[in-house]
Amino acid sequence: MSTTTPAATWEASFARRTQQSGGEITAILALAGAKDIITFSGGFPAPETFPVDVLRDLTARLLDTDAAVALQYSPTEGLPGVRDAMAQRLADTEGQRPADDELMITSGGIDAMELLSKSLLDAGDVVAVEAPTYLGAIMAFRGFDADVVGIPMDAEGMDVEAFEQRLAGGLRPKMLYTIPEHQNPTGLTLSYERRQALVEVCRRHHVLILEDVAYRELGFSGERLSSLWALAPDVVVQAGTFSKTFFPGVRLGWAAGPVSVIARMVVAKQNTDQCAGALGQRLMEEYLRGGHLDRQLAQSRVLYERRCGLLLGALEEHMPHGVSWTRPAGGFFSWLTAPEGVDTVALAAKAAAAKVAYVPGTPFHADGAGSNELRLAFSRVAEDTSTRAFAESRRS
Ligand SMILES: Cc1ncc(COP(=O)(O)O)c(C=O)c1O
Repeated sequence: MSTTTPAATWEASFARRTQQSGGEITAILALAGAKDIITFSGGFPAPETFPVDVLRDLTARLLDTDAAVALQYSPTEGLPGVRDAMAQRLADTEGQRPADDELMITSGGIDAMELLSKSLLDAGDVVAVEAPTYLGAIMAFRGFDADVVGIPMDAEGMDVEAFEQRLAGGLRPKMLYTIPEHQNPTGLTLSYERRQALVEVCRRHHVLILEDVAYRELGFSGERLSSLWALAPDVVVQAGTFSKTFFPGVRLGWAAGPVSVIARMVVAKQNTDQCAGALGQRLMEEYLRGGHLDRQLAQSRVLYERRCGLLLGALEEHMPHGVSWTRPAGGFFSWLTAPEGVDTVALAAKAAAAKVAYVPGTPFHADGAGSNELRLAFSRVAEDTSTRAFAESRRS
C-alpha cells in the first residue's frame, strides 16, 4: 500500500536560513533553454562563443591519451598541471604568479564564494557588498547567516569613502565583496584611485576582500586596471570563473589568495564537492596551453561590444524621459533606473506578456531597495532581436 505525504509537511522542516532566499536564480535558469522569449534576464554567455570544434578535438585527444586522469577523482586543490597553467595565466594577465599554495581550482565562481563563506562566516558576521550586487553572492553569504550590508556606488564603482565612513561609524565587516570590472548588475568599473584606497582601508581595518573577476577579461577594449589581488595579495582573495569566457557547463573557476585562507577553503571543499571535475580541468588546461582562450576572447569582446551597442541604441531610441541607464565598457549588463514610483516587478509581468524577460532590481540589493531599477543582460540577445524586443514591448 502506498501513502503520500503532503508537501507542506516537509516545508515545515526546512532550515530557518532557507526562508530568506528567493527563487530568483532558479527562475532565471529556468529560462536558459526558452526559445520563444527574448531574454535580457540571465548573465548567460552567447552560445556563439562556445568553442565546439576545439572541444571536440581536445576531448577526443584527452580520452585517447589521458583518460586515467581526466575521468578520475582529482586532488581537492586541483590537478597540479592545471594549477600550473592557471598560475601562468595569472602571471601573464596580472603580472603576478601565485605560489602553489596560494591557488586552488574551484567548481566555478559561486563555489569560491561558498567556500570562503564556509571558512570565514559565523552567524551574524557582517559582509559588506556593493549596492546593488550579484544576487548569487547575497544568497551565498546569507546561506551562512551573515548580515549583508550594502555600500553605495556611483559612476566610479563602489563609493570607498562611504565605506570608510561606515567603518568609522562602527561597522565591523569580516569581508568585503566586490566585482571591480563591468559589475553585475550595473556594468560599472571601479576606478584605479578607488582600488588603491580600498585595499589600504581594508588593510587598516583588517577586512578580507573577496574580489570577483567574473567579467575582468571581457572589457571591450581588452584593457584592464590592476586587480585588487595584484595590488594587495595579503588582503585579497581573487575568485574567477571560466563560465563567461570558456563555457558555463564546465563549472570551473579559481581562487587565489593568502596561504592560510586558501588552505581553509581547500578543507571546506573536501566536504562540499571534494574536487572540481577532472575532465573539465584537463580540457581547460589544454585550452589555455593551446592559446585558444586568448583567440576566443578577442572574438567574444567584439561580439559583446556589438550587442551592447545595439541595446544602448535601442534604449536611446525607445526609453521615455526620466529613465537612465549605465553605459558599460565590457561585460554583459546595463542597469536601468526608472523614475521613483515605477514598479519594475509589476512591469516584468507586462514585459513577459510581450515575450521579453529582464530581472527587476530588488533582489540585487541587500536591503530590498531598487524597486524602480532593473538589469538588462545583452550578452545572449541575438543581434536582430534587441531592437525588435523594445519595439514590441512599447506596443503592448
Ligand atoms: C559576478 C558573478 N560572479 C560569479 C558568477 C557565477 O559564476 P559561476 O557560473 O562560475 O558559478 C556570476 C554568474 O552570473 C557572476 O555574474
